[in-house]
Amino acid sequence: MDYFEYRKGELVAEDVNVSKIADEIGTPFYCYSATSIEYHFKALKKALAGLNATICYAVKANSNIAIIKTLSDMGAGADVVSSGELTRALKAGVPPNKIVFSGVGKTTDELAHALKEGILQINIESEPELIALNKIANSMGQEAQVALRINPDIDAHTHNKISTGRSEDKFGIEWTHINDVISRANKLDNIKIVGLAMHIGSQLTKLEPFKEAFTRLESLAKELRLKGYEISRLDLGGGLGISYDGLPTPTPAEYGKIVKDVFKDLNCDLLFEPGRFIVGNAGILVTQVIYVKKGATRRFLILDAAMNDLMRPCLYDAKHSIISLVEPKEDDILDRVDVVGPVCETGDTFATEIDLPAAESGDLLAIRSAGAYGAVMSSTYNSRSLIPEIIVKGNNYSIIRQRITPKTLINYESLPDWST
Ligand code: LLP
Repeated sequence: MDYFEYRKGELVAEDVNVSKIADEIGTPFYCYSATSIEYHFKALKKALAGLNATICYAVKANSNIAIIKTLSDMGAGADVVSSGELTRALKAGVPPNKIVFSGVGKTTDELAHALKEGILQINIESEPELIALNKIANSMGQEAQVALRINPDIDAHTHNKISTGRSEDKFGIEWTHINDVISRANKLDNIKIVGLAMHIGSQLTKLEPFKEAFTRLESLAKELRLKGYEISRLDLGGGLGISYDGLPTPTPAEYGKIVKDVFKDLNCDLLFEPGRFIVGNAGILVTQVIYVKKGATRRFLILDAAMNDLMRPCLYDAKHSIISLVEPKEDDILDRVDVVGPVCETGDTFATEIDLPAAESGDLLAIRSAGAYGAVMSSTYNSRSLIPEIIVKGNNYSIIRQRITPKTLINYESLPDWST
């Protein structure tokens, strides 16, 4: 579900004509729909109604402060994985007592930052991290509120690079070791264990792995309670997948039902860390065809957007649907094309052998479902700009990140003293 649709033959984002934005600010750019973000947040909130649940938006999916603020205004907390994300969440107005700090390699500076801000909880992923946090908390005269992230050894059946809950993955504490680690943690003066956490992967399009992992977490929580540990909070992570191709994916209601079925008797606060589900379909990447090139065996649409702007196809073989800003007509001639960027790598390919209405230089296209892990993963490779981000609400739009050009970036570089 999103608020991008054709109206009078042209693509609109909510009530704004996307090609009008392109005329005003130039391409490529990311365009987000605030109402789509709100829609997804509300849908998840509704699905979790009746539980003592807090939705901590996973800032890594899209960390623009305007996006975080849109969610924070609706009552969302934040899941952060670096000092930078923590700074953004606070700047966007997320109350510290709704912020969770996750991540497998938090530095001592980052742990100190989290303690200084008095955030809700730090998710600990290893014993060395636990010891480090205890030491820092001690030096700051504080008691750190901690959840132990378990690795439940469950395959999320998603792309290998975004699976995080198998025993061979670097994340969490092996679930069979939790008893030892919690008893160790209990002896540390500046650590207070408040619960357990888990996140088995991203872009899950089946619910079974969630069910398996939640069930494992639930029995572990019960077991620890029987041993006298106070497990008052469970962080269930994120991971709910979205549709990139129009095919159905699990609904928030189905996800919510599993959560309720598994945890109904536990009487625990529950945290959720969704990222992609909330912002994924709420963003498009708007780009222009530079050239149409006939190769020996293929026809290429060469765009002004590239792999540095949207890494997902290159990194995960992700298939984002690509549409024209002008509504296709039934009798349009279709061309079979490869849609590529201008970067000097064959991996700079958004789609291969897809059918699109015959395009020419200057035509505008939208790469859909680019709201999550798009702008945040972009780089300046090939000395390209970081592209603008804009957000639409109703019939207004606002630029929420300016284009950052190589000229600006070069200002941070200098020649060594010995250079003549
Ligand atoms: N919580 C933790 C601890 C995480 O590591 C992640 C994502 C999330 C929550 C949010 O997961 P989501 O609800 O968005 O699936 N760049 C990849 C995705 C990486 C996900 C990393 N962790 C991609 O473009 O597919």
